[in-house]
Amino acid sequence: MRDTNYSNIEDTYNESKAQHNINPDVHIKGLLQHKKALRVLDVGCGTGNYLMKQQQFFEGRGQIEWFGIEPSEAMLEIFQKNNDNDSITVKLAEAEAIPFEDNYFDYVICNHSYHHFTDKEKAFGEIYRVLQKKGVYHINTIHPYDMKKSWVYQFFPDVYQEDILRFYSMDTLFRTLETTGFDTKIEKRVYTYRRSMKSIQEEAKLRNYSQLHLISDVEYENGIIAIENFMQFNKSVLIEHAKLYPIGFKS
Ligand SMILES: C[S@@+](CC[C@H](N)C(=O)[O-])C[C@H]1O[C@@H](n2cnc3c(N)ncnc32)[C@H](O)[C@@H]1O
Repeated sequence: MRDTNYSNIEDTYNESKAQHNINPDVHIKGLLQHKKALRVLDVGCGTGNYLMKQQQFFEGRGQIEWFGIEPSEAMLEIFQKNNDNDSITVKLAEAEAIPFEDNYFDYVICNHSYHHFTDKEKAFGEIYRVLQKKGVYHINTIHPYDMKKSWVYQFFPDVYQEDILRFYSMDTLFRTLETTGFDTKIEKRVYTYRRSMKSIQEEAKLRNYSQLHLISDVEYENGIIAIENFMQFNKSVLIEHAKLYPIGFKS
């Protein structure tokens, strides 16, 4: 399985589209209805954007302690540079060995990170261990199997071959979470829409999607040429995007 080295793309990571689209977390809102003091852990927190935004959204609403773990020093350095408040604690660590005691957190989230875990079963076991009873685990991820017409896979087909080695199918993810001990529920959303080729070309040229670093420079350049060729006859293209929202409850 090939994987992205975030120490090579941390400079441009914050410019990617997904980083500008963070809303107040509905699971935190839900937990706050029953409990005023919460501990939240972001596993694979990257540059800390989720934690910093949520900390602002929930400022003054309950007592929330914010934590993150992240194995890339380069990503954490960006976090330290951007974060001027000390209410967020981050540690250099992997999901497979979470440096916190059992039953410590009320809520654990993985935002686009679980597919990087080299030992997913071990990582899910660790997340289960550090969650309290009645705690919630939420994964935010894509489902490559339902989005073969994503622009990335259409123009960079080698990325799809790599992604299906990293991402579990919905069934496998469900079974793995259930076997770990979680009461599991997965919501899937599939979108089909038309996108302008110009915007795709601009995004592809930035190469700040981690997926575009799974392939060689030659494969990447071939994709850029495929986009240019397609643009000679088409202003737009029909694309697919599929998202999964798995939830694990520790009963
Ligand atoms: C696509 S980024 C997402 C970062 C952040 N969650 C966000 O939404 O911006 C994936 C992150 O997972 C981290 N990661 C890779 N392997 C990991 C592991 N074994 N345990 C925890 N995080 C890992 C990467 O270093 C990277 O920061």
